[in-house]
Amino acid sequence: MAGSVLEIKDLHVSIEDKEILKGVNLTIKSGEFHAVMGPNGTGKSTLASAIMGHPKYEVTSGSITLDGEDVLEMEVDERARAGLFLAMQYPSEISGVTNSDFLRSSINARRAEGDEIPLMKFIKEMDEAMDFLEMDKNMAQRYLNEGFSGGEKKRNEILQLLMMKAEIGILDEIDSGLDIDALKVVAKGINKLRDENFGCLIITHYQRLLNYIEPDFVHVMMQGRVVKSGGSELSKRLEAEGYDWIKQELNIQDETINA
Ligand SMILES: Nc1ncnc2c1ncn2[C@@H]1O[C@H](COP(=O)(O)OP(=O)(O)OP(=O)(O)O)[C@@H](O)[C@H]1O
Ligand SMILES: [Mg+2]
Repeated sequence: MAGSVLEIKDLHVSIEDKEILKGVNLTIKSGEFHAVMGPNGTGKSTLASAIMGHPKYEVTSGSITLDGEDVLEMEVDERARAGLFLAMQYPSEISGVTNSDFLRSSINARRAEGDEIPLMKFIKEMDEAMDFLEMDKNMAQRYLNEGFSGGEKKRNEILQLLMMKAEIGILDEIDSGLDIDALKVVAKGINKLRDENFGCLIITHYQRLLNYIEPDFVHVMMQGRVVKSGGSELSKRLEAEGYDWIKQELNIQDETINA
């Protein structure tokens, strides 16, 4: 399905009665790569969790729609089936479920009943994707993320992203903990998906990832909102100058949520 649009309007989110997101506006269309940056503790991961429907995060007002459909009305698995994919900042370990089984059931969950991916086709696609991401084949039979190194977890998130054929990907610090070669591999995986059927929101602290994945838009979050948006020149300026100039420009004393 070409041409998905994820629209976030005036989103307010609380955790345990504390308001974290205070009116986020963001629109991601397929074909577009958006980078979200911002100092620690300004709401970036909260935004990712709210989009995917983490039960701890209560949306108190505003809306999230995917192609006009109300995402907030969907359960987490329905959001995944609708084409949303989240690579978490800290992927969970699931003992007893192999990586390969997890992948296959995730793929099948997005397909109609009776139209499950044939096993041989799945194995072939997984082998190809693992080769492409330069992953050790034995990772397929290990329990999901259990004992994976930080970098292996991130690479494995990209394996899922490649195989799940998501329409909108949300990648939370997919570059954290990656060595230089792994960073290039992960970027290669994300760039492989760049076409008119896929849009992406890339949460990152560093230009070094964006050197490999050129974003079309860059957004800066402070105080639980997107306070500034621009093109790829914005992230380059942040790398060179930090955030102080934005705080001065917008008269923000304290960028954190509590301000
Ligand atoms: N489950 C939670 N319980 C209590 N507070 C939370 C919870 N989740 C997030 N917060 C608070 O919400 C604020 C925003 O957190 P969030 O993880 O969204 O920040 P972030 O922008 O992703 O930061 P970082 O760049 O460090 O990953 C922080 O002050 C954090 O402590
Ligand atoms: Mg975070």
